[in-house]
Amino acid sequence: GSRTVAAGTPRRLRPILSLEDFEPAARCLLPRPVFGYVAGGCETDASLSGNRSAFADYGFVPRVLQGVAGRSQATTLWGHTWASPFGIAPMGMCALAAYQGDLALAQAAKEAGIPMVCSGTALTTLEAVRQAHPDAWFQAYVPGEVARIEALLERVARAGYGTLVVTADTAVSGNRENHVRVGFSSPLRPSLSLAWQGVSHPRWLLGSFARTLLRHGMPHFENSQATRGAPILSRDAVRDFGARDHLGWEHLRLIRRRWAGRLVVKGILSVPDAQAARDCGADGIIVSNHGGRQLDGAVSPLRVLPQIVAAVPELPVMMDSGVRRGSDVLKALALGARFVFVGRPFLYAAAVAGQTGVRHGIDLLQQEIHRNMALLGARGLEDLRDGRVVPL
Ligand code: FNR
Repeated sequence: GSRTVAAGTPRRLRPILSLEDFEPAARCLLPRPVFGYVAGGCETDASLSGNRSAFADYGFVPRVLQGVAGRSQATTLWGHTWASPFGIAPMGMCALAAYQGDLALAQAAKEAGIPMVCSGTALTTLEAVRQAHPDAWFQAYVPGEVARIEALLERVARAGYGTLVVTADTAVSGNRENHVRVGFSSPLRPSLSLAWQGVSHPRWLLGSFARTLLRHGMPHFENSQATRGAPILSRDAVRDFGARDHLGWEHLRLIRRRWAGRLVVKGILSVPDAQAARDCGADGIIVSNHGGRQLDGAVSPLRVLPQIVAAVPELPVMMDSGVRRGSDVLKALALGARFVFVGRPFLYAAAVAGQTGVRHGIDLLQQEIHRNMALLGARGLEDLRDGRVVPL
């Protein structure tokens, strides 16, 4: 039977039949600069569109009559069993797109038994996110100076996080021309057109932005040592963004010495970097091109996944960028990923219907995985690793 639209689904979510349906709904709802910030890639958007077409270049070779009635998509990673093999990727400034966006993502993820990664550029404190989801992970943009790195690690540990994700693909920010075109900037610059965008999107203005201002004041960056407390309209908010281009593997080794929890390096696309992460003592890596937002033309994670998995067999290799369907998740796992992350669709879901929207999105992806496992003849996710996906 069809379990796609559960009884009691709010009216607004009834037309949302797959993760991709959240995007047009969010486009209507959000002011252009906010939607553009989330949706955009960089330069020609080659990586952004390549992330989708990569999945289309692989096909399934299903098995039949495998007795799949008791199939399960549960996944164990470092001794913790998650309900599904996917989680919510770290995204900055979620609270700009959705009222208390980070908390909506965290609560829905917790409820569904999947991980959510709190962003280092969140407008919500990492402590509050950890409270909403005790098994959430924290993602850091490593600050320039050693003293700041140490202070951040101490704060993250004190908040109770067990897993730290270090994003490594942001020596500088990508060239997001799209931000200029849509009128987004960091810091945000007040302007007539920005005000007009707000007024012409009243549901966002009243339900999200005004509500945030009234209850919590102007959104602040909360999780960087340098920019903590800097409102999004202030130059101080971007004070340390430029100072990361001198970071090297020695900084990762330093973090490894000071961080006792699980350490994950995000933004790897090459075999030598995967090996370097392993040699520095990382517990896992996320193969990612940052959702096509950093180096335009960077290869899609899916295309380099098999060789990276083969090069570091001792490490759980995870991936993100372009995952939209249960079939995408299953293709990535069949190519050797242990876990995947999904970004934009869950933020659109939070914008459209808060925690309920995110939960709906998670449910849809879980249902697609459950159904497609049956059609593939897989009882467990480990069954996928026997050539059930081939390049087309
Ligand atoms: C991101 N991403 C990101 N990554 C990170 O490590 N720290 C961050 O703060 C952010 N911020 C951020 C904001 C927004 C609006 C987006 C869309 C993305 C990248 C993110 O973690 C992930 O790599 C991609 O979003 C995955 O691609 P998809 O699923 O969005 O295609």
